Amino acid sequence: MKQRDQYAEPFRIKMVESIHLIGQKEREKKISEAGFNVFSLDASDVYIDLLTDSGMSAMSDRQWSALMEGDESYAGSRSYGRLRDAVEEIFGYPHVVPTHQGRAAENILMSMLVEEGDRVLGNMHFDTTEGHILMRKAEAVNLVTEEGYRIASDDPFKGNIDLDRLEEELQANSDRVPFVLMTVTCNNNGGQPVSMENIRGASELARKYDVPFLFDAARFAENAYFIREREPGYSDRDVRDIAREMFRFGDGCTMSGKKDGLVNIGGFLAFADEQHFQEAIQWQIPFEGFITYGGMAGRDLEALARGIVESTEKSYLEDRLGQVRYLADALSRAGIPVILPPGGHGVFINALEFFPHIPQEEFPAQSLVVELYLEGGVRAVELGTGAFAHTDPETGEVRYPRLELVRLAIPRRVYTDRHMDRVADAVIEVHRRRDQVRGLEIIHEVPVLRHFTARFARLD
Ligand code: F0G
Repeated sequence: MKQRDQYAEPFRIKMVESIHLIGQKEREKKISEAGFNVFSLDASDVYIDLLTDSGMSAMSDRQWSALMEGDESYAGSRSYGRLRDAVEEIFGYPHVVPTHQGRAAENILMSMLVEEGDRVLGNMHFDTTEGHILMRKAEAVNLVTEEGYRIASDDPFKGNIDLDRLEEELQANSDRVPFVLMTVTCNNNGGQPVSMENIRGASELARKYDVPFLFDAARFAENAYFIREREPGYSDRDVRDIAREMFRFGDGCTMSGKKDGLVNIGGFLAFADEQHFQEAIQWQIPFEGFITYGGMAGRDLEALARGIVESTEKSYLEDRLGQVRYLADALSRAGIPVILPPGGHGVFINALEFFPHIPQEEFPAQSLVVELYLEGGVRAVELGTGAFAHTDPETGEVRYPRLELVRLAIPRRVYTDRHMDRVADAVIEVHRRRDQVRGLEIIHEVPVLRHFTARFARLD
């Protein structure tokens, strides 16, 4: 990858949106009213919003102009044809089922294929994916390699699935495995990529046991770029070519257009064969809408059709991943424990090392999220005990996740490096006064996906 000081952003800015930092006392009041949960803040009370890279991207002039060409016909929309053609070009899958976002695609896929008692194998399921699996009383089995859990490991492909464990699972339970799902990049351990070699290996195993092999393709372009950068034999290859090669190993994918689709809403399922498509539309029509719009406006189909093409442009990806690396380097130089090499869509801080005095049951990652808001008006997100701890319904025992992370997710084409500098300042300042920070307790929660609505209180 080129050094960040060797090039400038491959775009210029045509429209701006004002943001401002509210005062320190006000931030204290707002976060307390929000139950120390940044999901409950008003976005206007946030200065730099790194809650997610999802749906927060800036669209290009071409995408905005495409909106005017949206064909809003209920059936047979021209815009559907454009999306279908773009998906076929980039992913190689001709059968496309639009949905209003990624989790809607998951809902359809799970409705089609998952039954009670099943075991859905994957490298690491995203939380909505896991939610859909659990809601069907099936199990979401994460088989990412041990390296994927090692914060200190500089393995270039920490999203890889453990092929030995995958084979063991398939051997023991293939009749209970509806499909294998490869999430590219692997969001929950830091946006870490999966190598082509690993994709090939996992696909071969799935085929051997006659189980479909699917992708959660939300960040497929970033994954393809990492393969180009890091995997021998790919440095001269076109990113689109690499993406096509990845998808050739699969039978289809779910896609959240809100990430590498470069749109604010939208998603789809896509399949290599007609049979999966026919099954999917049985669920799409009642849940999402008719085949040719499926939960999206015609104009949104147009923007997504262009977005998936733009997100595979080399100059865009170089700048995008360069900015993530820029923030990761600034933090790492200051001694902040971040996951290195950084992943594709953000910088992940190891909260257990950042706050060694806060035990996992006192939500160290959530405590850091709160402090970053107080310090710099920066909104990050917790990926730790709040999001992933499970209480065993029989024993009441709490199982804590192995990783306790704070994610600084970077929206695409939205913030400049100077914004990243302010983010780094805030993290470094909280780190300096880390000994004074106390943990949190949870005072309100719901059983599924509790972190979105939970309320916390400060411990003394
Ligand atoms: N798969 C992955 C890997 C994701 O990261 C997400 C969403 C989804 C599926 C669901 O897609 O939001 O369009 O329904 N991730 C967001 C995030 C919410 O912040 O990481 P969606």
